Amino acid sequence: MSQSSPHESVLVALDVPTKEKALSLANQLENQVGGFKIGLELFGACGPQIVEEIGPSRVFLDLKFHDIPHTVAAVSRVAARLGTLLFNVHCLGGFEMMRAAIEAAKGENSNAKVIGVTILTSHDSASLQNLGIRESPREAVIRLAELAQKAGLDGVVCSAREILPVRAHCGDNFLLVTPGIRPPNTAIGDQKRVLTPREALKAGADYLVVGRPITGASDPVAAAQKLFD
Ligand code: C5P
Repeated sequence: MSQSSPHESVLVALDVPTKEKALSLANQLENQVGGFKIGLELFGACGPQIVEEIGPSRVFLDLKFHDIPHTVAAVSRVAARLGTLLFNVHCLGGFEMMRAAIEAAKGENSNAKVIGVTILTSHDSASLQNLGIRESPREAVIRLAELAQKAGLDGVVCSAREILPVRAHCGDNFLLVTPGIRPPNTAIGDQKRVLTPREALKAGADYLVVGRPITGASDPVAAAQKLFD
C-alpha cells in the first residue's frame, strides 16, 4: 500500500447526478479520504469543470475509454491535460489501444497516470461465459493485467480478490485500484466479487474505490470513519 494511512487509500465514487450533490459530499469527506472518483454519470452531467472544482490531483477520472487506438489517444491527451491523479481505459480495447493511450497521455503530461479496467467487478464466471470468455474472472484479470503492463500502463482496476495473483505477476510497482469494496454486513448491490476494506488493503491494494457504502449512508462522514473498524 503506497498511502501513509488506510483512509488516504480510499477514493469515494461520486456517483451522483448533480454538481451540488458531488460538492457537498466532497466537502464533507475531504479530510476523511484520499480522493474522489468521477465516473460517467457526474462527468456527463457536469463536464470537465467538476474535475477542476473537486481538485484534479485528488480525482480518479473513471470514464473507461474503449474505442479504436486513434480515438483513445486523442481523448487521452484531453484527459492528461486535466492533471488528474489517475484516469482509465478499458483493457478489452486491446494492446494497441492501451499503448496509444499511454503514449498520448505521457506526451501531453509526463505525470499522467493511466490504468486499465480488467474485468468489471460486476462480472462472475457465468456472465463472462455469456460474452464468450471461457476463463474464470481471475484468469482473465491476470491475463489482461499482464497485457496492460506490457503496453506500458501504470496499473489496473481489478477486484480485491485478484490483488494477490496480479501482484505476483506484475510486481510491486504496478498500481492496483480496487472497487467492489464492502464493509462487513453491507448490501453488495450489483457487485459480485467483493472484499472488505481491511482485506483489500492487507492483500496489497494501492487504492480502494468505495461508493454506495459511503455515499448511500445517512451519515457519509461516519461511514467513512468506520470503514476500517
Ligand atoms: O457503489 P460501489 O462501491 O459499488 O461503487 C463502485 C464504483 O466503482 C462504481 O462507480 C463503478 O462504476 C466503479 N467500478 C467498478 N468496477 C470496475 C471499475 C469501476 O465497480 N471494474
